[in-house]
Amino acid sequence: MLLQFDEITTPAFIYDEMAILQKLCDLQQIQQCNILYPLKPCEFADILRLMTPFTSGFSVSSLYEATLAKEMLKNDGVIHLTTPGLRPDEIGEISELCDFISFNSLSQWKMYQHKLSSPVKRGLRINPQLSFVEDDRYNPCRQHSKLGVSLRDLREELNNSTLLKNLSGLLLHTNCESSDFNDLLETVKLIDTCIPDVLKEINWLNLGGGYLFDASNNVEALIEAISLLKSKYELDVYFEPGKGIVGDAGYIVASVIDLFKSDNRTIAILDTTVNHMPEVFEYQYKPDVAEESDNGKYKYILAGSSCLAGDLFGEYRFDQPLEIGAQITFLNMGAYTLVKANMFNGINLPSIYAYTLAGKFRLKKSFGYPDFKARYGVEHNACK
Ligand SMILES: Cc1ncc(COP(=O)(O)O)c(C=O)c1O
Repeated sequence: MLLQFDEITTPAFIYDEMAILQKLCDLQQIQQCNILYPLKPCEFADILRLMTPFTSGFSVSSLYEATLAKEMLKNDGVIHLTTPGLRPDEIGEISELCDFISFNSLSQWKMYQHKLSSPVKRGLRINPQLSFVEDDRYNPCRQHSKLGVSLRDLREELNNSTLLKNLSGLLLHTNCESSDFNDLLETVKLIDTCIPDVLKEINWLNLGGGYLFDASNNVEALIEAISLLKSKYELDVYFEPGKGIVGDAGYIVASVIDLFKSDNRTIAILDTTVNHMPEVFEYQYKPDVAEESDNGKYKYILAGSSCLAGDLFGEYRFDQPLEIGAQITFLNMGAYTLVKANMFNGINLPSIYAYTLAGKFRLKKSFGYPDFKARYGVEHNACK
C-alpha cells in the first residue's frame, strides 16, 4: 500500500482491504483446515462482511459478539464460542446463535451443556499446560491458569463420569504473537501422547489463534500438525488466528498539533493518544512509524494529546524536520486497536477509513460528541 493520506482527516484508523484478503487467501492454501476469524482483534462490521466469503465462519467470546457474527454471516458460516464468562441469563440466546460452544471449565460444562439446544456442538477448552509465552499476563498456559481444563483434570473426569457421551470436540489456544508453528506442532504431539483415547472419540479440534504469519513462519510445522490430527483421528480441524489476519492491515494516522522543547528534547504532540491504541501503553512498546528513518537528523518525542504524562509513543528520527500538520503513520495497528480505543479526556476516536480494493480511501465511520454523550450522558427522565 502506498502511504499517501492527503484525502483523510486525522486521527484516522485505516484498514487495507487487499492486505486482509491476501492473508485469508494465503491461509486458504493450508489444505484441509477450516479458517475462522475471531472477532476480538477487530470487529468492524464492514471488515467482517469483507471476510465472510473467505472464511468458514467466526469465533466469538460473548453474547454481543455472537449476535454481531450472526448478523454478518446470516447462515453462511459457523459460529464458535468460548469464554470464561458464560452467564446463566445469556446461555439461552447464546445457544440459539452458536454452532459450537467450547466450555472453559468442567463446572461450566456441568452447569450448561444440558441446557444447549440439540444442534449445538459441545466442546471443552483444554489447557495442555505447555507454555511458550514468557510474559505471564499473556500466557494462557501460566500456572493457575483460568483458561481451559488441564489434561490431568480431563482424564480424571473421564474416569468418573459419562462426559464423553456428549463431547464432540476440543479447543486449545496456547500462544501469543508466535511466529513459530513448531510451538503448535509440539502442543499437538503432546495431546496425541496424553489423550489419544479422547481424540479418537471426538469429531473436531479447534487450534485457537496466537500465531502471526510472516516471513519467518515455518508453515510446514502447521501442516504437519493438521495432517497428524486428520490422518490419525479424522478430525475436522479449525484454526482461528486474529492478529495474524488483521494485524499488519491497519494503520493509525495522526497529525502533529504542537511542537516545543522540554529539557533539550523536542516534543511533538499528536492529535491521537495511546488511548487510541491502548496496547502501546499496556505493553509499553514502541510502535513502528512509517515516516521514521534510522539515520534521520531530526529527533522528536512523539506524544499523545491526553493529560497522562506517560501518553508517549517514544523518540523517533526523521529525515526532515516535523511541522505542525505533518502526518505520522503508526504501522501494524490492525489488531486490538479499535476494539480497545476509548475517549479518555473526551478526545474523539479515530475516523475509520477503508483503503479499498479499487485503491481509494473511503470514509466508513466517524465519531463525535453524540458518541461521547451516548456513553456518559444521563437522560433526565432515565431514572424516574
Ligand atoms: C480462543 C482464542 N482464539 C483466538 C484468539 C485470537 O488470538 P490472536 O489474535 O493472538 O491470533 C484468542 C485471543 O485471545 C483466543 O482467546
